[in-house]
Amino acid sequence: MRDQVTLTINGRTVTVPRGTTVAAAIAGAGGWVFRRSVTGEARGPLCGMGICFECRVTIDGQAHRRSCQILCRDGMDVQTA
Ligand code: FES
Repeated sequence: MRDQVTLTINGRTVTVPRGTTVAAAIAGAGGWVFRRSVTGEARGPLCGMGICFECRVTIDGQAHRRSCQILCRDGMDVQTA
């Protein structure tokens, strides 16, 4: 089993250690705006444990996925706001 996985974040290819959360991969790639509030304000991870829902992103076309609770997989496509 490879120690790393490769995914895309907003179209950019990123390779991270296996076991990395999507939130950590986004932050590691320099992303800090994960979603927008209804009034357009930038939002990002707050709790890091699945409670606040501020880290929601679109993964493989599915919106509102909590990125702090999902591990990166090979071929995953992540879209932030
Ligand atoms: S950071 Fe709070 S739910 Fe993900």
